[in-house]
Amino acid sequence: MTSGLYPGFFLVLLCLFPYDSDQTCPSVCLCTSDTVSCSSSRLTKLPLSLPFTSVTLDLSHNYLSWLGRSSFDSLPRLENLQMSHNQLSGLGHAVFYNASSLRHLDLSSNKLRVVEQHYFQGLWRLEELLLYNNKIVRVEGGTLNSLSSLKKAYFSLNQITHFPFFSIQDNSHPFLTMLDLSSNHMTTLPWEDVKALPGLVQRGLYLHNNSLVCDCSMYSVFWHWEKRGYDSLNDFRDEHTCTIHGKLRASIRFLRHNRFFHNCTVGKIASEPVTVLLANVFVSEGESVRLDCQTSLGSRNLSFTWFSPSKGYITQANINDTLISLFPDGTLEIHAAKVNDSGLYVCTALDIKEALNATREVNVTVVLSSGESFNTGYTTLLGCAVTMVLILMYLYLTPCRCSCCKQPKPPAIPVPTYDPGNFSPIFSTSHTDHCKIQTNKHVAFMESPMSDEGTERMPES
Ligand SMILES: *[C@@H]1O[C@H](CO)[C@@H](O)[C@H](O)[C@H]1NC(C)=O
Ligand SMILES: *[C@@H]1O[C@H](CO)[C@@H](O)[C@H](O)[C@H]1NC(C)=O
Ligand SMILES: *[C@@H]1O[C@H](CO)[C@@H](O)[C@H](O)[C@H]1NC(C)=O
Ligand SMILES: *[C@@H]1O[C@H](CO)[C@@H](O)[C@H](O)[C@H]1NC(C)=O
Ligand SMILES: *[C@@H]1O[C@H](CO)[C@@H](O)[C@H](O)[C@H]1NC(C)=O
Ligand SMILES: *[C@@H]1O[C@H](CO)[C@@H](O)[C@H](O)[C@H]1NC(C)=O
Ligand SMILES: *[C@@H]1O[C@H](CO)[C@@H](O)[C@H](O)[C@H]1NC(C)=O
Repeated sequence: MTSGLYPGFFLVLLCLFPYDSDQTCPSVCLCTSDTVSCSSSRLTKLPLSLPFTSVTLDLSHNYLSWLGRSSFDSLPRLENLQMSHNQLSGLGHAVFYNASSLRHLDLSSNKLRVVEQHYFQGLWRLEELLLYNNKIVRVEGGTLNSLSSLKKAYFSLNQITHFPFFSIQDNSHPFLTMLDLSSNHMTTLPWEDVKALPGLVQRGLYLHNNSLVCDCSMYSVFWHWEKRGYDSLNDFRDEHTCTIHGKLRASIRFLRHNRFFHNCTVGKIASEPVTVLLANVFVSEGESVRLDCQTSLGSRNLSFTWFSPSKGYITQANINDTLISLFPDGTLEIHAAKVNDSGLYVCTALDIKEALNATREVNVTVVLSSGESFNTGYTTLLGCAVTMVLILMYLYLTPCRCSCCKQPKPPAIPVPTYDPGNFSPIFSTSHTDHCKIQTNKHVAFMESPMSDEGTERMPES
């Protein structure tokens, strides 16, 4: 072919042999470099050919009712597929075959009834799945299995009565932080499965505006979530309703009116994910001291790690020191404290299942010698000083000057490490009180007032 030919000839050729069909834009659509919009185009079927460069394809507001096998296999770069507001009542097998680049799939406002196990097979890159406002009554067990990159899934405004919570496990969906099941028809949930969900999924689980039946197992789950301040509860406080069993239409806003649940036991776990409790401990050199690890997490299945300024991290597994014991309740015992064991000890209590941790800090000060031996030493010192003065007076027969008489008064700070400012008020009353306590060999244990919020709970019967 030469360039001298009549241009119309090319047009005719193109029409007869659309060899470059991969690049054509369907007449009802608008195409840019990587986006194709066929929205509101009265489509009842997928356009036959779409530009293979498409990353985004918008088919929303049409009349699509069926998608066949490998519908999108000519679009290897497809990442965003919008198909909301169509008439889809189901998806055939392998619809998304060869569409494994998909990250965002919007099937909201269709007529899907059952989300079958095979629907999303192979979409391992999918991050967002929008299925709200369909007619979904059932989500099959393995539906989410292959969606290992899933971050957000929206199932709200359907008629779902059962959801396969069990299929979401600790490592199956590591990025899932939003699971919206609000405005469905769930009456009871498998609460044990819900409680076993990974912490991030629980935090992002939306269950308001269902038809939940009021009972203690339901209430205790929401109680824990509320104590942790989850947005799902804070943002939809009034939409959390449950119906009192047997009494039709007796629906209560259980986050506002919890009188009905006064007889429920809701467990004791913490409201605060991280609570720092501080304590000061004074111990004489050579004595043993026990540091407890009481935190707001209580003492259910926790694992404890201590950080010691002289020995670094201490866990049940790595403990390799006959001078230190770590008890199952987290208590650390130093058998014979040395001065260089002083410092800030930090205990971290970790609840793996609930993804909660809390720390406890204990400031340990090891004083040089025990109170009694100090007093003996002090008396000896005083005796020596007095004797010295007497000897000097005797030797030089100098007249007693006032400054000389006052000299042997007890020093205010008998132990180098003692700083009165660090003691609580009971220790800073008067000098004599202080001496009395100093002679007492017990470990002084002082805590800042514990927050009561951590242990607040519902009255139990
Ligand atoms: C679709 O996937 C199949 C199997 O994974 C492969 O054999 C085939 O070449 C793919 N087709 C396209 C157009 O990528
Ligand atoms: C609650 O769910 C129903 C359908 O189950 C829906 O019609 C209604 O709009 C929802 N209400 C709210 C406040 O989301
Ligand atoms: C709670 O228990 C008390 C006594 O055990 C009972 O009288 C009361 O009706 C119970 N309240 C509810 C709401 O079940
Ligand atoms: C304990 O410490 C000794 C020497 O300090 C070392 O030989 C031994 O391997 C350690 N054991 C463990 C379990 O760390
Ligand atoms: C602590 O002091 C003891 C002797 O009192 C010494 O043997 C030990 O090495 C010291 N440890 C550190 C970490 O300084
Ligand atoms: C404890 O929780 C905080 C956030 O609450 C987190 O940043 C930290 O990594 C957690 N520590 C452990 C040991 O899990
Ligand atoms: C721990 O106690 C000692 C002695 O009372 C004090 O000097 C030090 O500042 C305290 N450390 C912390 C972190 O509170």
